[in-house]
Amino acid sequence: MKEKGNVEKPRNITKFERISPDNQRSFADILETAVARRSVLRGGVGLAAIGIFGKPLGLRAQDNGDSDENTTPLIDFEAITVERAASQTNWPLVSEDYEFDLIFPWGEPIQPDGPAFSHPPSADDQELQIGIGHDGMWFFAHPDDIPSDDDDSEDGSTGATEDVDETDPPMNRRGVLVINHEYGSNSRVIDANSPGSLEEVRASQHAHGVSILNVEKIDGKWQIVEGEKARRIHVNTPVTFSGPAADHSLLKNRDEYEPKGTLNNCANGFTPWGTYLTCEENFHQYFSETPYSEENWRYGLTYSAGDGYGWFRRDARFRLSSRNYPNEGNRFGWVVEIDPHDPEHVPVKHTALGRFRHEGAAVAVGLDDRIVVYMGDDSGDEYIYKFVSAESYKDMMEREESPLATGQLYVAKFNDDFTGEWVPLTMDNDELADRFDDEADLLVHARIAGDIVGATKMDRPEWITVAPDEYVYGTLTSNSSKTGINAANPESPNNFGHILKWKDADTHTGTTFEWEVWKLASSTQDTEEMFGNPDGLYADADGRLFIQTDGSQGEGERSICNQLLVADASTGEIHRLFTGVEDCEITGIAFTPDHKTMFINIQHPGWDNFETTLDTQEFPGIAGPNVPRDCTVVITRRDGGVVGS
Ligand code: FEO
Ligand code: CA
Ligand code: CA
Repeated sequence: MKEKGNVEKPRNITKFERISPDNQRSFADILETAVARRSVLRGGVGLAAIGIFGKPLGLRAQDNGDSDENTTPLIDFEAITVERAASQTNWPLVSEDYEFDLIFPWGEPIQPDGPAFSHPPSADDQELQIGIGHDGMWFFAHPDDIPSDDDDSEDGSTGATEDVDETDPPMNRRGVLVINHEYGSNSRVIDANSPGSLEEVRASQHAHGVSILNVEKIDGKWQIVEGEKARRIHVNTPVTFSGPAADHSLLKNRDEYEPKGTLNNCANGFTPWGTYLTCEENFHQYFSETPYSEENWRYGLTYSAGDGYGWFRRDARFRLSSRNYPNEGNRFGWVVEIDPHDPEHVPVKHTALGRFRHEGAAVAVGLDDRIVVYMGDDSGDEYIYKFVSAESYKDMMEREESPLATGQLYVAKFNDDFTGEWVPLTMDNDELADRFDDEADLLVHARIAGDIVGATKMDRPEWITVAPDEYVYGTLTSNSSKTGINAANPESPNNFGHILKWKDADTHTGTTFEWEVWKLASSTQDTEEMFGNPDGLYADADGRLFIQTDGSQGEGERSICNQLLVADASTGEIHRLFTGVEDCEITGIAFTPDHKTMFINIQHPGWDNFETTLDTQEFPGIAGPNVPRDCTVVITRRDGGVVGS
């Protein structure tokens, strides 16, 4: 949600000097060095033409051959100017070289013959309709539409089967789109401040979770088509647990109450084996009457945290004083894996990845084919984590073990000399062994483990993305009331946010890394590259960074809506591609395999002026009740090129 920007940026040098081991260097010096260092390190970037999971992505280097690399600009579209963006805030804008369409709004039925949207939706209808609060998402081609490696024969033929049109392979025009639904306030979903019945609680719960849609581009328009893969996963869908805490008493309620549900599904990830990861962020705000404990307090599970939703008044699962559900709060705050192609698949919460307010889960294949998952905990002064699987994911899967069930969780320490270390959160550490009963206890309370080992407090870690050159980028969206500053989070207060990059030893699996500040958003404020509060982030295989924002973008006459920008990761040059509507957040990013179609989301459009702003009230202009609705945006280049180019 929005945080108002403050152009005055008082910097507390005293605090920095107190926490810095190197008091000889002033804060300003650290800041300058941090920013200057990027120009030194960027020489090491060598870009791969292949996607991070070895799948061809059809990007520039692959389309045109590596020899063209120096002649074709990486980013070659007319950027939206600040002036143009500021002149239109009630409807989205896209670069003149692009076009967009608004699709898949909240309330649209997930099957073509499903119940049409009405407002407020009934619980039964909402269960068959797209949820609200569109956030992270990913597009999965149907496996049968993806050419296998064997299709590339030695003689240069594609090996395409007869029904595959090589100019527009089916994998780029149909598939499964999986969309997270982060949240929806009662006033929007049930048209009341607090649910007055269990029916209203269920409607609100069904608006949360994940939508899995069969989608296809027909006559130039992306639409929902009938298919058995379509499903809704929400707060009452059965789930299961994997990993060290799966069968632990900390995740048990009374025997008959099996685990159910996922909520506050924020950003996401996807695996090389074709599954989707959805991340549970602000789960604390659904639980009330919570008994005090150090653990609950550390996770924001205060006595009245869930009063805003009010579910606890009608559904005892969300009342942590209930003797039936004492550990229900421990069942949320996880990374959840979903097979988008199997409608019977029971979502799995992976306890080995730790419990915190998960923003996203960026997956990389590391040394020896071990799976690495980078994760941020989106709260002020929280940490960045990574998980490394115990063995090669291929070996583990051959044994029918989940690569996300067994491995090591680490938390990041960013040193002020631009080195860093990943500290293992393990019971082999004496201090952790003193604090926790066992590994499960540690993982359920990963935040406390991070505190004990002295992890670096970050400025609200949002998305993380892994580039093919092994650099990892992460957004730090803002931190208005931080308890201290450090070199990796060098502004205080940090009103505009920043983006870090780092590279781990041993292809993502090592315990050391080098880092630098990729961009301070404050440095862009008076330029055409202006942005603030970076949130969504995606690195493509050509070296572009897609940056999405959630916060204040400029002030006064330069005030614009939240936006999507495309950057050259190597030079830092930024072009504005898309701007949303007032009071919305731009989030979620997905592509067809050829990267010629991009999907993004507009979350909570016009909510601040719900009653008064007619234009936004009709957003996105898709037939239905006259309420602003979260929706997906499909963006293409007018010349059919790769999006971002
Ligand atoms: Fe759900 Fe941190 O954004
Ligand atoms: Ca976010
Ligand atoms: Ca955000």
